[in-house]
Amino acid sequence: MTLLDEFIKFLNANLPKAPSFHPYYEEALGVMLKAGGKHFRAQLLLGVVDALRPQLTQNAMRVALGLEMMHTYSLIHDDLPAMDDAPLRRGVPTLHTRYDEVTAILAGDALNTQAFYEISRADLEAPVVVKCVEILSANAGASGMVLGQALDCFFENSDKADVKNAKNRLGLAQKRLNLDELEFLHIHKTAKLIAASLEMGAVIAALDAAQCERIYGIGLDLGLAFQIEDDLIDATSDESEAGKPVHNDVTKNSFTNLLGIDGARASKNELIAKIRRELSDMPKGVCNVVENLIDKHLKG
Ligand code: IPE
Ligand code: IPE
Ligand code: MG
Ligand code: MG
Ligand code: MG
Repeated sequence: MTLLDEFIKFLNANLPKAPSFHPYYEEALGVMLKAGGKHFRAQLLLGVVDALRPQLTQNAMRVALGLEMMHTYSLIHDDLPAMDDAPLRRGVPTLHTRYDEVTAILAGDALNTQAFYEISRADLEAPVVVKCVEILSANAGASGMVLGQALDCFFENSDKADVKNAKNRLGLAQKRLNLDELEFLHIHKTAKLIAASLEMGAVIAALDAAQCERIYGIGLDLGLAFQIEDDLIDATSDESEAGKPVHNDVTKNSFTNLLGIDGARASKNELIAKIRRELSDMPKGVCNVVENLIDKHLKG
């Protein structure tokens, strides 16, 4: 069985449990996890552990599960009507479409918290568990992914009455982002969680602090390239291929809107070349993990 298959098996055997007399709340917690996705972040974390400390791969599964729960919560909320208003995710109807908005908001809340419950239960040394909690919370929370989402939603050219009214009330003019601001947005929204995935793998595999920091830096570049590919998917692929609506970014500060399709592709390829240079003094196993995932998911 491949590492990915093992992780999927583990995930399906460890969906959140919350039995009650609510007719579908418990089911809703598992729907988006079961629906799949690429498991890009979990594969980064587990790949690094498996390459450097294979005896800890099974113990790291719960951390990878927590990471995937955090990411899945961010997508459930990203799809809500107040944000990207998307009816399809991972090839299945979004939670607010299948059930209702309340359920989608609460399932997201629950997965956000459950992520840390899973990590706290990982059979790893206590300082390693605490470090993983620190890395995930720092990169997903207030000054990480959530900040990126806040910037993404505020600065989109939205005609959503809600944000427009707030801007009017507060006397704020619409502003176009420059390339530095665009990068800041996407580093927070996407790259930090991807960098955290690699760093948590490195911490579990007991790399030293300097190597963990370097691998985090590689993760930021990889995450930025990943978001450029995501923007290209929105601009150039179709819904059945993407498993989510496409052409949904017309009002967004996406890389394709700011740089054009060719410009976005060129930026992605520059980042991939940079990642390869940065990987050259990393352990061979780590290089292979990153290379294989680039081949599989960033070559569109
Ligand atoms: C989508 O993430 C949102 C981004 C941050 C680009 P993924 O492309 O990893 O989504 P799944 O997990 O495969 O569904
Ligand atoms: C969302 O970015 C990133 C998150 C932090 C959830 P997008 O809005 O581009 O993700 P998709 O395209 O809907 O998957
Ligand atoms: Mg979004
Ligand atoms: Mg979206
Ligand atoms: Mg997108």
